[in-house]
Amino acid sequence: MIIEPIQERERQALLSLAVSTGLFTPADAEGLLGGVLDSLAAGELPVGHAAVACRESHDGPAVGWSYFAPDPYAEKIWNVWWIGVSPSHHGEGVGQAILSHVEQAAAASGARVIVIETSDQAPLARARKFYLKFGYEERGRIPDFYAEGDSKVIFSRSVAGAA
Ligand SMILES: CC(C)(COP(=O)(O)OP(=O)(O)OC[C@H]1O[C@@H](n2cnc3c(N)ncnc32)[C@H](O)[C@@H]1OP(=O)(O)O)[C@@H](O)C(=O)NCCC(=O)NCCS
Repeated sequence: MIIEPIQERERQALLSLAVSTGLFTPADAEGLLGGVLDSLAAGELPVGHAAVACRESHDGPAVGWSYFAPDPYAEKIWNVWWIGVSPSHHGEGVGQAILSHVEQAAAASGARVIVIETSDQAPLARARKFYLKFGYEERGRIPDFYAEGDSKVIFSRSVAGAA
């Protein structure tokens, strides 16, 4: 598996992959992730913002991707804003490979801690299990954050010295 920066030409494929996870409508994916991809491609995001894709060969399609960035309001904290794997490749280690790459890249840039926020809703149960499995600890919840009855769950892990 290869993990490398995303390519501009795969913008639509990356949004389609996000939709294929069932978490987003096409409009949501466009709104939440499309703008980020455009800003990244235009070089408009601050230093450290990055998106990487996992693929089986350099010219092959992305089977998963992630967008991550340093937190502007904290010292040496990186946020993973999105990680998703094509459902046909779930459970094959793609997510782990991407997360590990993100952690290494952040640590190499000076990160102390990675923070990942998600929801407490049923469709995110596998994601929560995935984070716990790979060394993240739940640090807290904010009730009714995303919507009434939909809490934010905050995970983090230290990566200091991991690079
Ligand atoms: C969460 C996600 C990124 C994990 O990626 P993945 O490539 O399936 O995970 P890996 O194969 O590297 O790791 C497997 C582990 O992750 C968990 N896991 C998450 N989703 C899984 C799935 N669909 N099938 C099997 N295991 C899954 C399990 O804990 C599993 O460990 P186990 O085999 O011991 O049970 C992926 O399931 C996904 O894209 N989900 C939809 C999008 C999403 O929820 N993103 C997070 C938004 S906050």
